[in-house]
Amino acid sequence: MDYSDLMKLAGGHVEARIVQAAVELEIFETMGSHALEAASIAGSLDLEPRATELMLNALTALGLLRKRENRFSLTDLSARYLKRGAPGYLGGMIRFEASLWHCWASLTEAIRSGRPVRPADMYQENPTETAIFIDAMDSLVKARGDAEIMADAFDWDNAHELLDVGSGPATYPISLCQRFSNLRATIFDLPATLALTECYVREAGLSSRIRLISGDYRVDEIPGSYDVIFLSNIIHGESFEVNQRLMVDLSSLLKPGGSIIVKDHILDSTRANPPVGALFSLLMLLTTAAGRCYAADEVTAWMLAAGLMHIRQIDLPAPLNSSLIIASKEAGVKNSC
Ligand SMILES: C[S@@+](CC[C@H](N)C(=O)[O-])C[C@H]1O[C@@H](n2cnc3c(N)ncnc32)[C@H](O)[C@@H]1O
Repeated sequence: MDYSDLMKLAGGHVEARIVQAAVELEIFETMGSHALEAASIAGSLDLEPRATELMLNALTALGLLRKRENRFSLTDLSARYLKRGAPGYLGGMIRFEASLWHCWASLTEAIRSGRPVRPADMYQENPTETAIFIDAMDSLVKARGDAEIMADAFDWDNAHELLDVGSGPATYPISLCQRFSNLRATIFDLPATLALTECYVREAGLSSRIRLISGDYRVDEIPGSYDVIFLSNIIHGESFEVNQRLMVDLSSLLKPGGSIIVKDHILDSTRANPPVGALFSLLMLLTTAAGRCYAADEVTAWMLAAGLMHIRQIDLPAPLNSSLIIASKEAGVKNSC
């Protein structure tokens, strides 16, 4: 790293905030496929004209707009990811990032106290926050194609019953049920999230194949028995001990020969690599009671203690920045219940 890299790191909030504000102001949506002058964009969004021109110039400098003869238009990248309705639209995730701004502003305080800087409620108390959170998950997973890539990494031939724990917008079970006609899914999630999950499942026309169960996996029993249990971006929100217990509880719901698939930012033994996991742990410090990213050896230990076997890690390709850790229950073992 040199001087320029360091200064870019130290001032990275400037670029982030420009992108977030542009999405919040709906600048990209307004421009559509037209080349427009600053005054016209300011007029249609009811913004102050001089400030708007400064913003548009900054977005051009960042490569998110093109400027020719005082007219601004979308670049290929912004048309693909920042225009609402585009298949790769990332606006939901960027709005969620913007909503976390005040949390990151309190990082210094959190390192001193070791405590979250907002209610550690998984965005359940305020319906607007729940919607922003769940829309973010949907937008990120769809933009990157996580569900399709995850599906390719596992053999679904013998999977008939899937449990998705903490499914959020149901992006994975919807994609999997669309791909595998013999698959049925159960989603277990918190009540405020589940009210939104229901809309995603209904819009996909899959209400008859995806069952929704409301509850808190820390305290409530999950009914049923399953061929595959999936946990995507769940373990990083919980303490070591909660994850350890959850793995035992979930493995008791597996049919003989069934598998648990954990998808997350899995750290290596240094706990500082890959960087996305090391940085994401700080977001969990800011927003959860005791979450962080975990290393492969920690997840493996929970799985072994839960009696699972054939544990393997699959690092998913960029830009997913995630790994799968998959473990199976012995084929001949019957559930104790
Ligand atoms: C980060 S989101 C992940 C959503 C989805 N699995 C994905 O990867 O896109 C975490 C999800 O877990 C749910 N969740 C968090 N704590 C939970 C709990 N104690 N019991 C049930 N669901 C929970 C949240 O409501 C949310 O839907």
